[in-house]
Amino acid sequence: GENWLADGVQVVQYQGFWLPKFIVQGIMLIHDHFNPRPTDIILSTFPKCGTTWLRALIFAIINRKNYYDFQNHPLLSSNPQDLVPFFEMLIHEGGSTSSIESLPSPRFLATHIPFPLIPKSMTSSSSGRFVYICREPKDVFVSMWHFMNKLRAKELAPLSLEEAFDFFCRGVTFAGSYWDHVLGFWEASLESPNKVLFLKYEDMKRDPSVYVRKLAEFLDLPFSAEEEDEGMVEKIVKLCSFESLSNLDVNKNGNNTPGKGKHPGTNSDFFRKGQIGDWRNHLTPQMVEVLDKITKEKFQGTELSFDLVS
Ligand code: A3P
Repeated sequence: GENWLADGVQVVQYQGFWLPKFIVQGIMLIHDHFNPRPTDIILSTFPKCGTTWLRALIFAIINRKNYYDFQNHPLLSSNPQDLVPFFEMLIHEGGSTSSIESLPSPRFLATHIPFPLIPKSMTSSSSGRFVYICREPKDVFVSMWHFMNKLRAKELAPLSLEEAFDFFCRGVTFAGSYWDHVLGFWEASLESPNKVLFLKYEDMKRDPSVYVRKLAEFLDLPFSAEEEDEGMVEKIVKLCSFESLSNLDVNKNGNNTPGKGKHPGTNSDFFRKGQIGDWRNHLTPQMVEVLDKITKEKFQGTELSFDLVS
């Protein structure tokens, strides 16, 4: 395997994707033991594409009847990771699927597993639904570079932008190649639009309420006329916005609870800028050219598009 973060995380190639070894172990347990349910909701993402945001939004949508009073909402006192388990991490840590099997329905789980590596039992029409969010690749890369340095052991020199760029372009990341990850879910969403909802971070940033309604409809939980009158959609959008979540004490100062199926790092690591186009502040013109070129080549012949520069 390839030595990646250089502080103990080994990356190996598995069925065409470079993945951390512990993730591969989690995937194998899932293949052997996980029992999907028709009510499962799986949030699938390539890391740094908006997982935290969607965790919060979907949690708020599916639980809105329980927490009618937004003043006591769990998202105000818990990091979204504490409310929505990280599927393969929790299973890997527990050494079995039992912690997931014991969850009540509907289960809401988050995963970074690439589509081709998800068991057929989960992607068949009789099992649950997938929500996928992707993001413009230059912003994903910049976000990932920052994140990798936050996770990196303090005694090590920071990972340079150039080193991280090389990893990203070769698909050596937490979840394999960004482009292959996106393409897998894109194709699945075209094939089964009722099973896989494909979203883009940029679209959601520009008009979050449209997508909150879309999400609710996709999950068979559309907003009633009464809820619309009460401004429920706007309340959810506001609660889950970068501004609100990133300023909460739990997300600014909260410590990550290790051993609970969560990422390493602290809660604040998941809130950086939350903007479109921060790559402009980091990438060289040559990096921009290389990333845009790969994106064009990989997504050629699909309807997938992003605001590329060159
Ligand atoms: P930046 O590093 O560009 O700021 P993930 O949750 O998939 O790990 O992705 C993290 C990225 O989403 C970070 O991007 C983070 O700031 C941003 N983010 C976190 N919460 C958000 C929210 N509520 N709304 C929009 N973006 C958010």
